[in-house]
Amino acid sequence: MRPPWRMVKKLLLFVLFFSYAIANSQINSYQNAVVSSANELASEVGIKILKSGGNAIDAAVGTAFALAVVYPQAGNLGGGGFIVLRSEKGFETSIDFRETAPLLSSKNMYLDNNGNVIPELSTTGQLASGIPGSVAGLLYALEKYGTKSREEILSYAIELAEKGFLINQELANSINHHRSDFNQFTSSFQIFGRKFKNADLFKQTDLANTLKEISSKGRDGFYKGVVADKIVAEMKNGNGIISLRDLEKYQPVERKVIKGTYRGYDLITMGPPSSGGTCLIYLLNILENFDLKSLGKGSVPFVNVLAEAMKRVYSDRSEFMGDKDFYNMPVDKLISKSYAKERFSNFTLGETIPSDGIKPGNADKESPQTTHLSVADSKGNMVSLTTTLNDVFGSKVVVDGAGFLLNNEMDDFSVKPGVPNIYGLVGNEANAIAPGKRMLSSMTPAIILKDNKPFLVIGSPGGGKIITAVLQSVINIIDFEMSAEDAVDAPRFHHQWLPDLLQLENSYASNMQIRELKEIGYSIKIISDFARVEAIKYNPDGTLSGHSDRRGSGKALGF
Ligand code: GLY
Repeated sequence: MRPPWRMVKKLLLFVLFFSYAIANSQINSYQNAVVSSANELASEVGIKILKSGGNAIDAAVGTAFALAVVYPQAGNLGGGGFIVLRSEKGFETSIDFRETAPLLSSKNMYLDNNGNVIPELSTTGQLASGIPGSVAGLLYALEKYGTKSREEILSYAIELAEKGFLINQELANSINHHRSDFNQFTSSFQIFGRKFKNADLFKQTDLANTLKEISSKGRDGFYKGVVADKIVAEMKNGNGIISLRDLEKYQPVERKVIKGTYRGYDLITMGPPSSGGTCLIYLLNILENFDLKSLGKGSVPFVNVLAEAMKRVYSDRSEFMGDKDFYNMPVDKLISKSYAKERFSNFTLGETIPSDGIKPGNADKESPQTTHLSVADSKGNMVSLTTTLNDVFGSKVVVDGAGFLLNNEMDDFSVKPGVPNIYGLVGNEANAIAPGKRMLSSMTPAIILKDNKPFLVIGSPGGGKIITAVLQSVINIIDFEMSAEDAVDAPRFHHQWLPDLLQLENSYASNMQIRELKEIGYSIKIISDFARVEAIKYNPDGTLSGHSDRRGSGKALGF
């Protein structure tokens, strides 16, 4: 008897569905390790290092140096960043390689005689740069926690710079878009001045030579000698103030991680001079008091609760957060459960308090161009690394003859109280400029454990929106039990107290929801996508799943 056609069709669909599901789960889950970064070639470097026996730090450092070549929008030698790491034995630490203000800097250096901010002085050109920390920080991490030699780790980046690589559409568009900025600096125009298109071969000989100096001499190959001389000479091409003494003096700092809990999960993240970890824990402490699942993901009450939490947290960010070595930032209070309750005690569901009605609490005083990479292996070694030039291509200044871009991180200081930086963030005395001080960051490299076992490695670029992008990805995974891929790719929104705007990604809410949010009192701004989260999740079966945000052109690779 011939089987009925409908049954055959059903069976066929069933088989097709399951083979698709299995294939898909195999694409995204790996037995050994995952590297997720903003560029596939950089992720490949990390995987090669792991496959050749390197540990997660070896891979993270190799990937970061490769990003300095293949992702010059944010990957860098001339910027800074943070690493949060946890070893398979449960050792946790963080490395702060944030840039510092030059010795010749001063509080009002970007103001004119009338006390007004001079446009672009803190964002474009030599004077916008802090002392780069990336080379010192990455080498510190490698020497202390890696297993491979500096020469081996740097060889991948050197090869990419020397032989060149085929640039992708994103980089071509990005360089072309900023041609007029590069035009202002001869050294930058020489490298980025031509019109690029997808798959053009891009060789960077000067950068390869700088990387070789670092490979053979370590940090002295950057902070002393020919490269340092070139940085100082570049300062003199413009209005820069970084000196040889500044470079020689620069030191990364190993710091205790800061910790929090959320619904039984443990969070390990970065403390000051980043505001990211403090704000993330503070936000989660507020949200833990609500059953987000029953509010409904993306519902008007859900947005209302999160937005009001964001406003209070960013208000405190502006007042209390800065470099703890210079300013007594009350971290313990800001990340305490009791302070979160107290700060949210004036919240009523269905209402909004306008931002000018929210003042910083009583805590007692104490980027998008940044890039994040996550590395994790099946033994439980995890590295969460965020690094930045601040704005896309930083100050737009390439150090002449050295082939790398300098940051414009000085703009992350509060150049004048209450005047917003390029991310619209405001600050005060806590984040005022002082020689040797580190500017406040929003970078939020984070690691999450469940029952003391590895659960998630996560972080993002996106300036002031980094914190809310990481927050929503974490909530999506923990509260809404979404996969790493769905959690990261889901639409997001953002509120940072000032400006008093609820910023929704264009696919976030329906017209009806937008109407309801306006009725509550929110001013709405629809924005294009923001942040590029890189996440790695440990699955219950012991495999790892990684995902590079759909908003970027990065790639999570594994084996
Ligand atoms: N430059 C972006 C940040 O550190 O937050």
